[in-house]
Amino acid sequence: MPRYLITSALPYINGIKHIGNLAGALLPADIYARFLRGEGEEVLFICATDDHGTPAEIGAKEEGLSTKDYCRLWHERQQEVYRRFGLSFDFFGETSAPQNHELTRHFYRKLAARGYIEEKVIEQVYSVEDGRFLPDRYIIGTCPQCGYEAALGDQCEKCTALLDPKDLIGPRSLLSGTADLEWRPTKHLFLKLDKLADEVRAWVDAHREEWPRLVSSIAYKWLAEGLKERCITRDLSWGVPVPLLEYEGKVFYVWFDAPIGYISATRQWSDLDPERRDWRRWWYAADDVRYVQFMAKDNVPFHTIFFPAMIIGTGEPWTKASYIKGFSWLTYYGGKFSTSRKRGIFLDQAISLFPADYWRYFLTAQAPEADDSDFTWELFASVVNRDLANNFGNYVQRTLKLTQKYFGLTVPGGGELGPAEQRLENDCRELCTEYRTHLRQLEYRKAAYALQRLWSRGNLYLEERAPWSLVKSDREAAASVLRTAINLIRLFAAAAAPIIPFTAETVFRHLHLSAEERTAIDATRINLNYLKPGHGFEIPPPLFRRIEAEEVERLTAAYAGDR
Ligand code: 2FM
Ligand code: ZN
Repeated sequence: MPRYLITSALPYINGIKHIGNLAGALLPADIYARFLRGEGEEVLFICATDDHGTPAEIGAKEEGLSTKDYCRLWHERQQEVYRRFGLSFDFFGETSAPQNHELTRHFYRKLAARGYIEEKVIEQVYSVEDGRFLPDRYIIGTCPQCGYEAALGDQCEKCTALLDPKDLIGPRSLLSGTADLEWRPTKHLFLKLDKLADEVRAWVDAHREEWPRLVSSIAYKWLAEGLKERCITRDLSWGVPVPLLEYEGKVFYVWFDAPIGYISATRQWSDLDPERRDWRRWWYAADDVRYVQFMAKDNVPFHTIFFPAMIIGTGEPWTKASYIKGFSWLTYYGGKFSTSRKRGIFLDQAISLFPADYWRYFLTAQAPEADDSDFTWELFASVVNRDLANNFGNYVQRTLKLTQKYFGLTVPGGGELGPAEQRLENDCRELCTEYRTHLRQLEYRKAAYALQRLWSRGNLYLEERAPWSLVKSDREAAASVLRTAINLIRLFAAAAAPIIPFTAETVFRHLHLSAEERTAIDATRINLNYLKPGHGFEIPPPLFRRIEAEEVERLTAAYAGDR
């Protein structure tokens, strides 16, 4: 039996993320963690803020804070938003923690000792107008590979090509817009990816069959281009200082220390309770760990090539990913989310507009898995109305209110279960098995679809057996139908809990269910005769509200940005 280590790409510290970041890494990781915990698996779910690099430095300047204070502030703000979305991290760390500094230096020293680091004097972009060396991400220009006009000096986010600022056509400073850029010589360290290429390829080959196509195709594209040595230091003051005498004012490149953050955040977690927690048990020579990573496609090269190369280069048995779930983009009315142009929806706005579960369900049902997925308010409203309000929510209200009306606030006794209930139970078994299989395989759209069909099956049962008219001719039979229907609510909520945990909790509470009574969705334990006559319940408030056309119009106008 493996233990499951789950990480979501570490969000950059600079500000609250948008719903695309939730859809393409944080949320699916959380759903997987919740699902596996419900299945009784041992899970460790780790995330952290990615504190280093230029975004933090620039953000702090803009807000008039020290970089340290800036990071503390936004770390707390991000953590609070994620809590409100129900993200159930076992630990949410930060890459600026001492544990990460120490481990980053350890990686560097090992790589250097084994001959995978080389020092070179290189020409770096210096902006006279800005009075500083410009890190790659602060140089903007046209991508030489696909022609995208707003490619940054380290990567084209359109075609995912990893770039060097020298590759850009017509480079300018992102800070001031100046094209008055000079190349000045300065010393830097390089990771010799070229020397690690064969081993990285062998590792990718070993996973080729299992990984999603999106992920392996990006890895192979990169391997095919040939791995070149890559600069791992920057002229910045914020980051992990390079532990060499002549490297004052230089830190490791953010993508060098960020993935190490997965390990060091686990160490932060274990340092809080060292008697009972052991980060090495998850990360070092941990043969029974299945490690699943979640990320958007622009992060895939770093996780399929760069980080594994770093690990391989140390010669130490650090845990490498078993499975990488990559996501395409969530777009907003066909275009990109943009912070600067105020296009799209940020998590703090999203949660002030609708409860977390509306977003969680929508972003699962419309997950940008193989292809990009487009957000529109019309689609959001129609999915929420159809699946949550009309299907699941309505089923719960109808069932409990009918029961209250005819039998009071307890599970009614009397009547026998017949062929209709047998069919229902069989269908539920099948749908739950399908649903669990999709979640195990990280097929989110398919999982949401199975869940929605499970809920529909409940509504179909009510229509078929019509307890509201049956009660007039055969009160006992109506009691057994509603008893079955209440048992179904338990099953529906238990199944839905990984995706819509807040709603499931509300349902469980109103059904007076203990912790053990909240998880039974594997086929062998499905039992529609579990809650016995006399078990009390309460009627919850409507679980979801419909989103009407006027509201859609209002939201569309309010969140249009400058499109
Ligand atoms: O793209 C991003 O948001 C990065 N901060 C992801 C880092 S993932 C990891 F390796 F730390
Ligand atoms: Zn490109």
